[in-house]
Amino acid sequence: MLEILMRRRSIRVFEDRKVQGDMIDGLVKSALLAPTSKNNRPWKFIVVEDQAILEKLAEAKPHGATFLKNAPLGIVVLADPAKSDVWVEDTSIATILVQMAAEAMGLGSCWIQIRERQHSNEMSAEEYIQKLMDIPSSIKVEAIIAIGHPKETKKPISDEELQFEKVYRDQYGKFYK
Ligand SMILES: Cc1cc2nc3c(=O)[nH]c(=O)nc-3n(C[C@H](O)[C@H](O)[C@H](O)COP(=O)(O)O)c2cc1C
Repeated sequence: MLEILMRRRSIRVFEDRKVQGDMIDGLVKSALLAPTSKNNRPWKFIVVEDQAILEKLAEAKPHGATFLKNAPLGIVVLADPAKSDVWVEDTSIATILVQMAAEAMGLGSCWIQIRERQHSNEMSAEEYIQKLMDIPSSIKVEAIIAIGHPKETKKPISDEELQFEKVYRDQYGKFYK
């Protein structure tokens, strides 16, 4: 597990080939296995392989989503806030679990932030996606996970890069290392 965590980097360039159905099933399972506060499971997910929809999702915000148009797979992470007051945490945990499962399968992925982001001055990225995908306005849009076979390599994080100075032992300010 630690090896997978150290290897995972955000991948934004993907090979031009589909992700196999059984791999997608595994990714969906990873999302649904995510722990949630009070086991409320407030999330919902939209698995997107349709290239035309991925291209439109890539325009959800002006920066930081454009690479999605060249990804074979996107998973839109939604939540029903009526089901949980901590849906942000619940959706975030599910999102990172999908990213870790993708890494373990040899796939690359990147989190695309939607919540609190703007599509334009007039419209939030969330509203843009709600309109595009027929999502009711009561359902929140947290993120999109871009996934595919990686076409870029990034070096794993080394121990030296880890910010151990942010870790304390027993009390604040008493360094762990
Ligand atoms: C909450 C969150 C939001 C992010 N939003 C975006 C995004 O909108 N677009 C993007 O390209 N990367 C996004 N990222 C990826 C980060 O830029 C990336 O994780 C960070 O720079 C560290 O790089 P690494 O993942 O390769 O270790 C996001 C990551 C997180 C955790």
